[in-house]
Formats: sequence, structure tokens, C-alpha cells
Amino acid sequence: MIDRINKLRQDFGARVAQATDADAVNRLRIEFLGKKGHLAQAMQELRAVPAAEKPAVGKFINEFKQHVERLLGEQAEKFGKQAGAGRERTFDTSLPGRRETPGSLHPITQTLDEIETIFHGLGFRVEEGPEIESDYYNFEALNIPKDHPARDMQDTFYVEGDTVLRTHTSPVQIHVMERQEPPLRIIAPGRVYRCDSDVSHTPMFHQIEGLMVDEGVSFSHLKSVMNIFVHQVFGKNTSVRFRPSFFPFTCPSAEVDIQCVMCSGKGCRVCSQTGWLEILGAGMVDPAVFEAVGYDPERWTGFAFGMGIERITMLKYGINDIRLFFENDLRFLRQF
Ligand code: PHE
Repeated sequence: MIDRINKLRQDFGARVAQATDADAVNRLRIEFLGKKGHLAQAMQELRAVPAAEKPAVGKFINEFKQHVERLLGEQAEKFGKQAGAGRERTFDTSLPGRRETPGSLHPITQTLDEIETIFHGLGFRVEEGPEIESDYYNFEALNIPKDHPARDMQDTFYVEGDTVLRTHTSPVQIHVMERQEPPLRIIAPGRVYRCDSDVSHTPMFHQIEGLMVDEGVSFSHLKSVMNIFVHQVFGKNTSVRFRPSFFPFTCPSAEVDIQCVMCSGKGCRVCSQTGWLEILGAGMVDPAVFEAVGYDPERWTGFAFGMGIERITMLKYGINDIRLFFENDLRFLRQF
């Protein structure tokens, strides 16, 4: 057996040296390394070799195989390079171009942009504030008392001591009013954090805050701004309803509902058979908030509102699980 392999080796050596192109190398590869090639056959024959000699013969065959692989590899590389060198000089200008597959904006970004554009048209300017806040800006200045449930560790991420991840965008109201005198009209988009997670809650989500302060601003201004906003986002025929509610930093306060976008108000699973969907919180700025920032509550009045962008986007597109926004699954994202 060893003799036979030695012969094969000599034969192979001579023929590799004679190979003059990639095709010849390929033919040798098939002849020696192919499924029915010399080496496969040798391995077959190895079975019949007496057990005592098997390891030595096996080793010999293996060494030969490595030798063949190495030499064929070297030759293939040599001819491959030559072929490549030839190709470099010709360039087929008739080939179709490679198509770029452009990405698209995340649905949350699209909704943010759309809402910003609407309020921009109403004279609102965009402001931003920090995501890491002090207890003062997130709660105290917004008239949220020490015993308010929102301050519970269960709901708020505490960083350390009196520092929190903001639980809403309302603290931006305080920052803006501290540095500017009225009149003002701002919206403040950004990330907010709450210790919560299920099909309709994620620990981080986005809100847009709105604030308008001037002389003579009334609840009817708030209503008309909300109407314009809802009609632009959900369509002219969408009814809007104000429901009395409570927020420590607005008085009176309201929650704004829209006619259910799934059933057009007939009642379905999404709106719990009520025909209405809550989309935001709003109200007239509480005089205590004006006092905290040094505005004269006798002179200035204003309204504020805050809404969740994920929620608006879910209603707009009929998405039933908020977590889809954060999983980066291209099959989901490509639909927008
Ligand atoms: N900050 C409130 C929330 O996160 C929303 C809100 C903003 C309500 C402004 C009234 C006025 O729920």
C-alpha cells in the first residue's frame, strides 16, 4: 500500500509541475481529491489493511493528502491571480449598476417629525431638556407632592439620592420658563423612563410636551390647538373629546380622547367597547407652577399638554405591541 501511495505521489508531483492553467489544476483536484479520486480510494483500501499496520498507513495517506491540498492550493492561487490580473484591465460598462437599498426613518422618528411640523405651523418652537433630572424639576416644581405615588421607587428610576431619570417631559416646562419670560409657545420631544414593562409599556418611551403662556390664554385655545392637532394626525373626521382629569401641575386638567380609529366609535376590543381612545393629558398651567418659576400668575395664563409618541404611532398604524418598536426587527421596520 505504501508503495502505491509513493507512486501516486511521484505521479502527482510531475503532473502538478506540468499544469499551466487553473483548469488543469482543477482537473487534478478532482482526480486526486474528488469523491471517487485516488485519495478516497486509498481510504477505502485502508479498511482492509491489518490492524497493526493501520495507524502507520493511515498517517502516510493523510500526509499525502495534505501535500496534495497544499500544492494544489498554491497553484490555484498562482493561476487565479493571473486570471484576476487579466480581468482588471477589462471593465464591462454594460453591466447594470449595483442598487443601493436605502434605509428609512424609524416609525417613532416619523411620528415625532410629523407632530413637530404640525406645531411648528402653529408657532411652537422645539426645546429640549436633560433626561437625568433632579427631584426638583421632575416633581417639586411641578407641584407633585412628596407623597404622590409617582415618586414611588416602583414607578421612577432613581439614579442616586434626589436624581432620577425623568418620568415625563414636563420638567422641560420648568427649565424653559426659568430662562425665558412669556409669551412663549414651545414643544419638547424626548425620551422618558418609567419602571414598567408589558405589551403597552416599555421602561423607556417618547413623549412630546407642549406649553403656551401668554396674556389671556384660555381653555378654548387649548381645545382648538388639540382639535387641529388630532385632525392633522388622524384625519379631519376624527372626533375629539375632553374628559375631566387630574394632574398636580395643571388646573383644570383633562384627558383628551379621540374617536376609536379601529371601529370609528362603534366599540371594539381596542377601545374596550367605549368607542374612545385616550391620547394625551392636558390642562391650564397651575398657578403654583408659575410661582415656582417666578411668573406672575395674575398676569399670565397658559396651557400644557403631554402625549406618548409610541401610543400615537400604535393607534395610527394599528400596532398592538409597543415592544415591536425596540426590537430592531427589519421585517417590522421595513413596513414604514
Ligand atoms: N406629564 C403628564 C404625563 O406624563 C402629561 C401632561 C403634560 C399632563 C402636561 C398635563 C399637562 O402623564
